[in-house]
Amino acid sequence: MNNHSLLVDATPHLISPPISPNRSTNSSPMKLGIMASGSGSNFEAVAQAIKDGQLNAQIQVLIYNNPGIKAVERAERWGVPSVLLNHRDYKHREELDTAIVEVLQQYQVDWVVMAGWMRIVTPVLINAFPDKIINIHPSLLPSFKGAHAIEKALEAGVKITGCTVHLVCQEVDSGLILVQAAVPVLPEDTPETLHARIQVQEHRILPQAIAQLAPRTTSATL
Ligand code: GRF
Repeated sequence: MNNHSLLVDATPHLISPPISPNRSTNSSPMKLGIMASGSGSNFEAVAQAIKDGQLNAQIQVLIYNNPGIKAVERAERWGVPSVLLNHRDYKHREELDTAIVEVLQQYQVDWVVMAGWMRIVTPVLINAFPDKIINIHPSLLPSFKGAHAIEKALEAGVKITGCTVHLVCQEVDSGLILVQAAVPVLPEDTPETLHARIQVQEHRILPQAIAQLAPRTTSATL
């Protein structure tokens, strides 16, 4: 950890519901498909949480839409197969989503994580994985839905913002909220500094939200 990340990490934050201690389940690991359009730091946070034993899951595949993104290097490093589905090759959103569903099924995914997936998804994908798709968004929803959430928060002059993990439904950034983290907006913030502060918390709440969705094994089923 460098000095910068130490500083960022030291800023006040609030996570709700609070991160619960390492919860091991007797269930088989959740099979995750992760979708990313950019750096993939959230992909890596999930991979690290699995490695650290904080999340009983395995990442089956990374689906990405922009050639050459850093997320692919990360997937290679973590030994996760990656599949490029370039949205520019598809005329309609539904066609892209059909291809996404095919890949997710091919890799036997049962939970889908949109970790910086910058495309609007359609019922083709949503109905193929009902209540099994989650998204991470860099604001305290329902504020600042859609693109440029961080810029919108700065323009609005809010003093607190954060990030949200929610279930995906048809309306953009509107599904059931699972976990949120709040951070202060500082007077000297730029979109970059604020995003860095939010991302520290994203990397905490995304694995936590996935763990929260894990099927629980009750004594009755043991
Ligand atoms: C995150 O800030 C997420 O909230 C937003 O896109 C960003 C992706 O970051 N939807 P990364 O690619 O995981 O680093």
